[in-house]
Amino acid sequence: SIQLVTTVAGLRAESARLLGAKRGVSQGLVPTMGALHEGHAALARAAVENNDVVVASIFVNPLQFGDAVDLDRYPRTLDADLALLEGQDVDLVFAPTVEEVYPGGEPLVRITSGRLGDKWEGASRPGHFDGALTVVAKLLHYGIPAAGLPAGAAAGPQRGSLPAYRAYFGQKDAQQLALVRRMVSDLDFPVEIVGVPTVRAEDGLALSSRNRFLSGDERDAALVLSRALRLLEERANAHEPLDLDSALALVESQPLVELDYFDVVDPGTLEPLAENCRETPFRGDALALIAAKVGPVRLIDNVVLNS
Ligand code: PAJ
Repeated sequence: SIQLVTTVAGLRAESARLLGAKRGVSQGLVPTMGALHEGHAALARAAVENNDVVVASIFVNPLQFGDAVDLDRYPRTLDADLALLEGQDVDLVFAPTVEEVYPGGEPLVRITSGRLGDKWEGASRPGHFDGALTVVAKLLHYGIPAAGLPAGAAAGPQRGSLPAYRAYFGQKDAQQLALVRRMVSDLDFPVEIVGVPTVRAEDGLALSSRNRFLSGDERDAALVLSRALRLLEERANAHEPLDLDSALALVESQPLVELDYFDVVDPGTLEPLAENCRETPFRGDALALIAAKVGPVRLIDNVVLNS
């Protein structure tokens, strides 16, 4: 059954023990802030499918919240979270306190997300991605699997080799995923980043811990986000011009939705694609990004386009 640890030392000791006991050769990490839903479950499932030992972390990271109110009202549902992770056969949950992660208070030295972190979500949430990347860097360090089995152990062909290390992030937060990939490659972190497709409700709404704050009417209105993205996806699949204008009109037809941004970008740099992708038949890889305020909630969604 699932184990819970709250200290970094406990995480390292227990994951090493599990890796040894299972004669495991791979470890997966699933970082979360809790309030888990089927989107998080998909990350856990992907990790369990491909790794001998899987650790999920639950930590509401103060560094990535702009204001204290938002931080305070972030849902905390530990018992339900543990049940969901246990249902996916996750081995170990790391749920530290703020003091455990930031023993000296807020860190002086941080990861800078740079140009990639200033645009889109970063434009309306200054410092958000620096805070998120800083905690992701720390979590990735905590989750590094223990070195291979001792020389005397009957370890088979893997003896002496380092365990594989993978960390799982959702495509739902496309900018975060792009930034984590860049951090890991720019700064040579010894981990493979795995992106997991967005999990949606049956009506298309991307699952999010914040959806619970939508009223019934707001939730209905919010469906224009995924519908607009779906329109672009259909165009791309049909090798037709993307026609951002009619997708935009659909979003703007919904008075409860206050659009922040909606654009088609390069999946690596997140720079907008040239205007002509809208008029000429679309070929290549792109990402359509959308963000809007619906009632009290800021919603984001995206779709990967390849044609
Ligand atoms: P959180 O919002 O809890 O999300 C944890 C992970 O679940 C992220 O990688 C996110 O992209 C993924 N996720 C959320 N909703 C999803 C959905 N509908 N489908 C697929 N994946 C989904 O993102 C964070 O926490 C934090 O910023 C964190 C990375 C933990 C750093 O604090």
